[in-house]
Parts: sequence; C-alpha cells; structure tokens
Amino acid sequence: MKLKTLAVAALSALALALPGTMAEATKVKGEVTNFDFSFQGLTGTYDRNQLQRGLQVYHEACASCHGLQYVAFRTLSDRNGPELPEDQMRAFADMYEIWDNELRDWRPATGPDHFPESQFEGAPDLSLMTKARAGFSGPYGLGINQLMKGIGGPEYVASFLQGYTGEEDFQAGSMFYENIAYGGWVSMAPVLFDDMIVYADGTPATKEQMALDVAAFLTWTAEPKLVERKRAGFVGVIFLSVLSVLLYLSNKQLWAPIKKAAKES
Ligand code: HEC
Repeated sequence: MKLKTLAVAALSALALALPGTMAEATKVKGEVTNFDFSFQGLTGTYDRNQLQRGLQVYHEACASCHGLQYVAFRTLSDRNGPELPEDQMRAFADMYEIWDNELRDWRPATGPDHFPESQFEGAPDLSLMTKARAGFSGPYGLGINQLMKGIGGPEYVASFLQGYTGEEDFQAGSMFYENIAYGGWVSMAPVLFDDMIVYADGTPATKEQMALDVAAFLTWTAEPKLVERKRAGFVGVIFLSVLSVLLYLSNKQLWAPIKKAAKES
C-alpha cells in the first residue's frame, strides 16, 4: 500500500515536472539581445526590403553550409514575403543546383523546387530555426509573451551571429568558437564581417545589419503566413467585440419589458 502511494506520488511529481523540463529544453542558454523587428506586435508586418536583404545574406554567407529544404523558390514571390518579381525569382532559383530523380542528374532549380538541404556536415537546416530557438520571450506557447514581444527566435539568431568573443579552442580535431548567445562553444565559425557583401539596395552592410536582416528572412521562412494570420486574428477580435456589444444590447432590449413588469408588480 505504502509503495503504491509512493509510486503514485512519484508519477504525479514527474507529470508536473515534465512541462517544466520541456520548456527548459527550448530555453536559450546564453545572452540574447532584445532586438526590435518590424513584424513584432499586434499589427507588425515583414519589411519587404529587409527580407530581400536577408535573402541576399543567406545566399552569400550561409547557403554554402545551411539548407532551407522546406522553402520553395516560388514562395520568394509571395505577398508579404520578399516579393521578388517572377523573373528575378526564376533567375535566383537558377543559381542553385538540385538533384532530379527523373533525370538522374543535377539541374538548375526552378520555381516549384525547394532550396537544397544542408551541404555541410553538422550544419542544421535553417527553414525552421527561428522557431526551434523561440525560448527567449519566456516559455514558447504561452501566447501572451509571444504576442507582445514576438517569438524570440529571430532575436536569438541575430544575437548568435554577433555573439562571438573571438576565443577559439581546438578540441579532438575540430575548432570551437566561444559565443555568448549560444552560451558556450560552438563549431560554427563567425561568418559575418562588416562590408563583406554589397547590398543591392545600398544599405550599409554592417555586421549588425546583416545579422538582423538574415534573422528577419529566417523568420519569414519559418512563418510565411505570419502577417495573414495576425490580420485574421485581428479581424476575428473586432468581429467578436462587435458581436458582444450587439448581444448585450439585444439581451437588454429583450428583457426590458419583463424587468419593467416585475418592478411594477
Ligand atoms: C562553414 C559552414 C557554415 C556557414 C557558412 C554558416 N554556418 Fe551556421 N552552422 C554551421 C554548423 C556546423 C553549425 C552547428 C554548430 C554546432 O552545433 O556546434 C551551425 C549552426 C548554426 C545555428 C544554430 C546555433 C544553435 O543555437 O544551435 C544557426 C542559427 C546558424 N548556424 C545560422 C547561420 C547563418 C544565419 C549563417 C549565415 C549568415 C550561417 N549559419 C553560416 C556551419 C555554418
């Protein structure tokens, strides 16, 4: 009997602890800066120029290692995305080679194809990275924090890219780099340096600018329908508010004669 009680107690303790540890697992360990992004807040939207710059950073500084296997090239033309004109999108896709199972050969990518997978061993796919590192604004999924402050993933990615201290360590045949946002030693070397690229729109390519732009772009790859979703939510809230007022007023009107009769009697 005693053992059974103990087992039940232990199990319930475990059940209580589990959500905690899950939240812990997504929590970011290191120091993350709370950058402001245009797409945060109730009515925030993506900045098309920033997404285009972020795409350029990804293409020039990340694509050699990291894939974006869940993103189709044609979506680069979607509304509320980078909104590349069709011909530019096709020209962009044409710079990537993908394996064609039917041809049994490599060929240039076209609109419907997806970006390639990661090319570098150990480099994670970046399509959903801003969601995978979403712990910064408090445990992911509570809703209210994410609504007001954003999901936290883009802040992490932007901080990570700028978080290198310059310390390096050679261990067991590989190089590790200290990164304060990562909260320790990471095997990815720093890749962003001031003015390493020339932005098509003329924005000065500082390290911070590139980090923010690529983080914004990676938020779009993980949440391509963010703006539509916010709008639908907003319309829903307004609709429900109006409906509540109407229901309240009609309820009053419906009961008014009865209340009056009750008062008089
Ligand atoms: C030379 C190859 C290489 C390049 C170029 C590169 N990365 Fe990485 N990246 C890696 C590797 C390898 C890892 C895995 C590091 C680890 O877990 O120790 C990684 C990990 C990451 C992570 C995950 C960190 C974490 O919290 O686990 C992010 C985010 C990231 N890279 C973003 C980028 C972005 C954005 C760019 C372009 C601006 C980029 N990387 C360029 C190799 C690269």
